[in-house]
Amino acid sequence: MIKYLVTSLAAVAVMAGASNGQTPDGKVDFEKQILPIFKERCFECHQKEYTDKNGKVKKPKGKFRMDGAAVMMKGGSEGSDVVPGDAAKSSVYTSTTLPADDDLAMPPKGDRLTKDQQELIKKWITEGANFGAWKGEE
Ligand code: HEC
Repeated sequence: MIKYLVTSLAAVAVMAGASNGQTPDGKVDFEKQILPIFKERCFECHQKEYTDKNGKVKKPKGKFRMDGAAVMMKGGSEGSDVVPGDAAKSSVYTSTTLPADDDLAMPPKGDRLTKDQQELIKKWITEGANFGAWKGEE
């Protein structure tokens, strides 16, 4: 009986995790949960150099690109942007928690990320900053 209960509880937990977009082991799924936040709030200023419709060349701000796993891990001019396992040292997380009037607060314009979004980024880094199958741009 106990064994049966434990097994069915575990099954429920797995199902609940899956519906949250987490991986089956309950970890944050980068592509489903983190990438949409980065795309919407960070890519505008942190992607590969491009020329906008007015012919103006846009370089990644702070020399930091977030549009690919390898370039994100390489980091920008300050470095230590993503330190796997250590969110407190990772500016990708810490910059989002700074008050809006801080010079280094990210994103520097628009609303702050929600508390849930900040916590999700923190959890993703704490769990090892795993990108799964995502490679993005080189
Ligand atoms: C409107 C443009 C803009 C957006 C959007 C933006 N940033 Fe930035 N970001 C900047 C600028 C400008 C700098 C350089 C700041 C400096 O060097 O003083 C920077 C620098 C950084 C750095 C430091 C890079 C380094 O190594 O020097 C990190 C980390 C960062 N941003 C993270 C983010 C994250 C995470 C988001 C999305 C939640 C984001 N940024 C969204 C403009 C932006």
